[in-house]
Amino acid sequence: MAERTTGPLDGSGTQGPGTFPERGQNGGPVVLLNKVTKSFGDTVVTHVLKEIDFRLERREFTALIGPSGSGKSTLLNLIGLLDRPTGGRIDLDGADTRELDETGLTRLRGRAIGFVFQFHHLLPAFTALENVMLPGIARDGRARKALRERASELLGRVGLSNRLGYKPAELSGGQQQRVAIARALSLSPKLILADEPTGNLDSQASDQVFGLLREINRTEQTAFLVVTHDTRMAARCDRIVELVDGRITGDRPNRAETDGPGPNGKGGRPQRDYGKASGLGDGES
Ligand SMILES: Nc1ncnc2c1ncn2[C@@H]1O[C@H](COP(=O)(O)OP(=O)(O)OP(=O)(O)O)[C@@H](O)[C@H]1O
Ligand SMILES: [Mg+2]
Repeated sequence: MAERTTGPLDGSGTQGPGTFPERGQNGGPVVLLNKVTKSFGDTVVTHVLKEIDFRLERREFTALIGPSGSGKSTLLNLIGLLDRPTGGRIDLDGADTRELDETGLTRLRGRAIGFVFQFHHLLPAFTALENVMLPGIARDGRARKALRERASELLGRVGLSNRLGYKPAELSGGQQQRVAIARALSLSPKLILADEPTGNLDSQASDQVFGLLREINRTEQTAFLVVTHDTRMAARCDRIVELVDGRITGDRPNRAETDGPGPNGKGGRPQRDYGKASGLGDGES
């Protein structure tokens, strides 16, 4: 991809966290981190993330791996705008997040990011359909008909057309996670952040959920950053980034999953048909 030297993110021309040569929306990376640090505590300070440089292109499906405590969830929280960095710059979908107040962050988060966590965080009192509608209701202030239709369509896509009226407790773990994926997709985000999305599932349900994420990546062109401890899952990503003690110690394309240069020349499109591989359909019981 040709480097661009003009655009809204073109900084002052100095080096450091103020300067990015890339343009923002419509072509630049979805995520761009420049010397991002994160520390916790006042008297005893823990330096969790140390000058992280990272970029995630559109459509990239990247695994984030690393030992427990290395800072993976902290990094995901920063990229997801759930927390602010101590230092450095985070651009998301072309916006310099340092310039945004809480309202601006919330808006950007809602527009650009979907979350899938290890524990799905579905609301127990609501049905699958209502859970998937919630992000749209939060955005619009009410339940529009279009939201209901979109939620229903998404639940169909994750193979749960026959479970729309079920509450989370009436669904299996894998089904609950698929509802959470449908919910993450409800506002058509450019980026999905997933923190151990299969960590709580058995291997068959894991395969299904992971296959579904890959299928969404392929059909919706959504970028993914997926934290996983599961080497089988990491092996199915286009790119593997390793975090050790708050630093990126590895960043490599995963050749097994690619069939040529990807958006940044590092990874490519998946070869398999994950729609078939995931084996999801309305016919399941
Ligand atoms: N709010 C906080 N206050 C203080 N320390 C924190 C806070 N959040 C995280 N940490 C510390 O940051 C470090 C990294 O935590 P993080 O949750 O990011 O690790 P992780 O790589 O996701 O680990 P795991 O694989 O076990 O989920 C840990 O040492 C943790 O104690
Ligand atoms: Mg974690």
